[in-house]
Amino acid sequence: ISLQALNSLAIPSLASHFVELTQEQDLPAIITYCNAHQLPMRVLGGGSNLVLSDRIDACVVHNALLGREIVGQTIDRVEIDIAGGENWHDLVAWTIAQGWSGLENLALIPGTVGAAPVQNIGAYGVELADRLVSVRAYDLFNSEFRIFSNAECLFEYRNSIFKSDENRYLICSIRLTVEQDFVPTLEYGPLQSLKAQPDLCAADVFDRVVAIRQAKLPDPRLIPNAGSFFKNPLVGADVFQRLQQQFPDLVSFQSGADYKIAAGWLIDRAALRGQSSAAGVGCYSEQALVLINPRRASSTDVLAWSGWVQQQVEGLFGLALEVEPRFWS
Ligand code: EPU
Repeated sequence: ISLQALNSLAIPSLASHFVELTQEQDLPAIITYCNAHQLPMRVLGGGSNLVLSDRIDACVVHNALLGREIVGQTIDRVEIDIAGGENWHDLVAWTIAQGWSGLENLALIPGTVGAAPVQNIGAYGVELADRLVSVRAYDLFNSEFRIFSNAECLFEYRNSIFKSDENRYLICSIRLTVEQDFVPTLEYGPLQSLKAQPDLCAADVFDRVVAIRQAKLPDPRLIPNAGSFFKNPLVGADVFQRLQQQFPDLVSFQSGADYKIAAGWLIDRAALRGQSSAAGVGCYSEQALVLINPRRASSTDVLAWSGWVQQQVEGLFGLALEVEPRFWS
């Protein structure tokens, strides 16, 4: 089965086996089948953080588990369970429509609810880890359900136990807390101007985030991409000072004792923004950190361009860029 329509980079890729998972009771039988045929399993969500090779010799399980449920409510907060196959942005829009806040900064992030904890999605000053109570997952190795508390998810910047322990867990549902009263997070530069707005509500922040993202990040249905292709590198004070001396206009953010360097700025400064390879793979003109694949080229072409970007940045700044999406071979 072709996975081209199921990955946001639109890479042509064929899976030897594929199953659409609509009810979690089917998992034991799927695992028994895969074990009997010595097939590795891969869990596919929205496919928006993946680089797929031409052929995947594995059983690709497409998480299509649906459902939302309110599981607890106080005067301040609401706890909700959301199934892994639900669309992330639809969930955010639904919470805003209910009059709840907490997820508005995470509007318009592509992908599914089940994929959200894997890379600990984050934007505009909020990370999923800030709102998540627990994750209910199926352990594909031991064939059992497990509940992970927030701490047990081992969340870090764009990382979690589900990303480091690859292909082991299928995320059935997540439990989130949202606020009944609006508690804004407006520290990110382009959101700060909202602080002055009278009667600001979560829907206003939601609308602003949607507008910012639409201006900077291409719609994958029009220009295939996987969001930020590299992590923002974290460096110590010594490296930071060396860089700042050499490049006074360096864009960075303090993060504890370390500094996060804006990878988009590094790529931009390396004169790669708006540039592309012969295969059409390139750095998006409005946000250099977004690698685009307008001609739906293969993973070889995608990785060749990403390697070139890494080489240029390393040469100019002495910094190694780490690829953010996962690679399936
Ligand atoms: N910049 C440039 N040129 C560029 C791109 C960026 O100079 O071509 C500079 C800008 O000056 C800007 C700074 O770099 O001030 C940072 O750019 P931006 O605010 O767009 O954020 P980012 O650090 O590039 C991260 C996340 C995004 C998230 C935004 C907003 C990572 C890897 N990416 O991007 O997440 O939406 O912050 O919070 O952390 C994703 O993970 O797929 C993603 C889109």
